Amino acid sequence: MYRLIYISTASDALTAADVESIVDVSIRNNAPRNITGVLIYNGLNFLQVLEGTRLNVEEVFNRIVQDSRHLSVTTVLAESAELRIFAGWSMAGRRTLALAGRHEYETIVDAQDVLARQMPTRVRQILENFSSLKGI
Ligand SMILES: Cc1cc2nc3c(=O)[nH]c(=O)nc-3n(C[C@H](O)[C@H](O)[C@H](O)COP(=O)(O)O)c2cc1C
Repeated sequence: MYRLIYISTASDALTAADVESIVDVSIRNNAPRNITGVLIYNGLNFLQVLEGTRLNVEEVFNRIVQDSRHLSVTTVLAESAELRIFAGWSMAGRRTLALAGRHEYETIVDAQDVLARQMPTRVRQILENFSSLKGI
């Protein structure tokens, strides 16, 4: 099993409908590839966790990197792992209330549900750091 976490910056043109369709397409594509994870969008940045075979994760990630709906895609963790953190989540999306009033979203996956999963300390640190970054 392989796990990849990246952070990126939403393009200026990103709309709420784009986020909806990213989550929909992700669930559709990831489930048959047995890729699990979570996508968090805070109105400015994305953080995504992708888990699956290295081949599948890299294939999907190569497509994601080229997507013009975000830029500055930066891998913050890539490692092999014994266990999935997000078993059963084909790509739950969490949309937090945006800062700067760019977009407002209802939360469809609660931060507590994300952080309640069992995970290595360094992954938890990355997720906590991201969720504390409110775009000051
Ligand atoms: C932030 C972000 C996260 C994405 N995550 C995924 C993903 O987990 N799985 C996926 O298949 N596509 C994801 N995409 C969409 C891909 O870039 C690409 O548009 C999509 O895979 C094309 O699928 P299709 O050929 O079935 O339309 C993401 C895009 C963005 C901007």
